[in-house]
Amino acid sequence: MSTPSFKVVGLPGDGIGPEVYASACAVLAVLQETHGLNIELEEQLIGGAAVDATGSPLPPATIEACRRADAVLLGAVGGPKWDGNPAELRPEKGLLQIRAEFNLFCNLRPIVTHPALHAFSPLRPERLQGVDLMIVRELTGGIYFGKKWRDAEQAEDVCRYTRPEIERITRAAARIARQRSKRITLVDKANVLETSRLWREVAHRVIDEEFPDLRMENMYVDAASMRLLTRPADFDVLLTENLFGDILSDEASMLCGSMGLLPSASLNEARFGLYEPVHGSAPDIAGKGVANPYAMLLSVAMMLRHSLDCPAEADALENVIHGCWSDGLLTRDLRPDGLGTGQVTAAVCERLRAGIAALAPF
Ligand code: IPM
Ligand code: MG
Repeated sequence: MSTPSFKVVGLPGDGIGPEVYASACAVLAVLQETHGLNIELEEQLIGGAAVDATGSPLPPATIEACRRADAVLLGAVGGPKWDGNPAELRPEKGLLQIRAEFNLFCNLRPIVTHPALHAFSPLRPERLQGVDLMIVRELTGGIYFGKKWRDAEQAEDVCRYTRPEIERITRAAARIARQRSKRITLVDKANVLETSRLWREVAHRVIDEEFPDLRMENMYVDAASMRLLTRPADFDVLLTENLFGDILSDEASMLCGSMGLLPSASLNEARFGLYEPVHGSAPDIAGKGVANPYAMLLSVAMMLRHSLDCPAEADALENVIHGCWSDGLLTRDLRPDGLGTGQVTAAVCERLRAGIAALAPF
């Protein structure tokens, strides 16, 4: 029997990006041994590293390689070295461009708290019980991609959304809600913003006409940001526009204890996806070998599940990671005496090889 083979483009990027990317490569190599997973990894440039090497944050060679791939795995982009660059030469521009180039309009950011990590969240443990929510963030529209200009005295960023943009992300959220508890919270600022009022009209029409089995409630973004801290377990699928999703996902990451634990998937209609940890390039700890690789490894699991159709491998990896958490195998963002990136990676690899989710307690 021939095992399917996949092409994945790896974009290590900047800061701690290459360190967590190396962790992903190690784990993928083990999955090849243990599960016969056949992934051909091709490394390309993005972000500041690409600006330095080619003068562009998203060189044509990277775009072409991604076009030939089944999925893309990204570390992180950005850093103080490029902060003074003009907008077109900022590392973040590479990320925004790749999202636009491949129409990656659907950004999934799952927030699941794990009992072993409750103590590391600034929230009280009783509020974290049962938190399992999915932020569905629109990723290729809104103020991020609207017209921008600036002169000596003023600046403007236009927030624009079209009906088709709202319809497709609503459908994506609805399909996810169908596999969960059939509830969606639409987060907006409809008391002030015209774009939010269009979102409400269009999103509710899509749900009423195409997904009558689902329930969608509305919540203003200011109230939602508070509710994430007071009653986070109330949320299930949270559907929102680009900027609100950016802000709320950083806030929600603290429910899990650390930014270093949050994966994400950015998908288009063809299920082609870019997978990346939600955390950034963390220049303050770059090169020290202490970066938390779990967000990246969970992003690998999302890639296996959503773009490569390998749910068994995704389950195996997630189970091993949760087992590691239960056993206290954590990095220094969570505990001062924590392990390094390489030690955590080695533990995950060892457990995958042994086929076990939990060894003796740490
Ligand atoms: C994210 C990041 C990006 C965003 C930046 C790096 C452009 O914060 O993926 O959440 O704002 O979308
Ligand atoms: Mg962000």
